[in-house]
Amino acid sequence: MNTALRQEIYKHATSWIYEAGASIRNQIDDQYQIDTKSNANDLVTEVDRSTEQYFAQQIRNTYPDHKIVGEEGYGDKIENLDGTVWIIDPIDGTMNFVHQKRNFAISIGIFFEGVGEIGLIYNVMEDVLYSAKRGEGAFKDDKRLPSLSKDVTLETSIIAMNSSLACKNQRINEQKVQQLVLDSRGARSYGSAALEFAFVAEGIIDAYLTMRLAPWDFAAGMILVNEVGGVTMQANQQPVNLLEKNTILTCNNQITERLLSDYIELK
Ligand code: IPD
Ligand code: CA
Ligand code: CA
Ligand code: CA
Repeated sequence: MNTALRQEIYKHATSWIYEAGASIRNQIDDQYQIDTKSNANDLVTEVDRSTEQYFAQQIRNTYPDHKIVGEEGYGDKIENLDGTVWIIDPIDGTMNFVHQKRNFAISIGIFFEGVGEIGLIYNVMEDVLYSAKRGEGAFKDDKRLPSLSKDVTLETSIIAMNSSLACKNQRINEQKVQQLVLDSRGARSYGSAALEFAFVAEGIIDAYLTMRLAPWDFAAGMILVNEVGGVTMQANQQPVNLLEKNTILTCNNQITERLLSDYIELK
């Protein structure tokens, strides 16, 4: 993608994110419909749906040849990453949105021929935008994020994970995860994969590990983390696949080897 077009798309995408974010903030105390999806704790609201619809409409009006992948189904069914693809999570952290009225984000990753060009993660209630363009670095609002620290060790790391990983688990050896909780400086679980990626990019946590994320959960985040020198992969070390669900490890590369050799053992 050429730089001028990327800049134009970036401008549109950020203005739509600010618009959508303001609308979500306006509805935060309203009574909105809450439904469940795969189970009683898998929530979705009419705000998730209307936000995704808003993005789909803006993108289709402005860039009719672009493709859209969105969690709530207002995008396209895609089988490959040809052309320009917007991968959108209208609200990442719906449980936080409903229960806490904070700690959720809008996440948009924009790919051209399978390469991540623009990553945007908007912490809606704090009005903070994490953004990245390929090769141009990552930003928190207008402040450039420095490259991730070279001084981090496993022992001084904060590791974010889904708390279920440390419980009896079908996908990963939970005893090794428990050891990771003990050996690292601390463990955290924020409940928004997109924010966890943004925090890795910001260097305020050093890794995020989880066993099942959809492309809209990590598409923007992997672009951000990449711009500060961090890495994102499946937990079996394979590259992530943007067309399906993945296990995910994203981290400061100083601790990748320790995490993989000592603590991540898939079942
Ligand atoms: C969820 C959040 C959560 C993660 C789940 C995701 P949603 O996204 O990112 O932190 O553990 O795997 O599905 O459903 O709130 O957009
Ligand atoms: Ca969801
Ligand atoms: Ca999500
Ligand atoms: Ca969502």
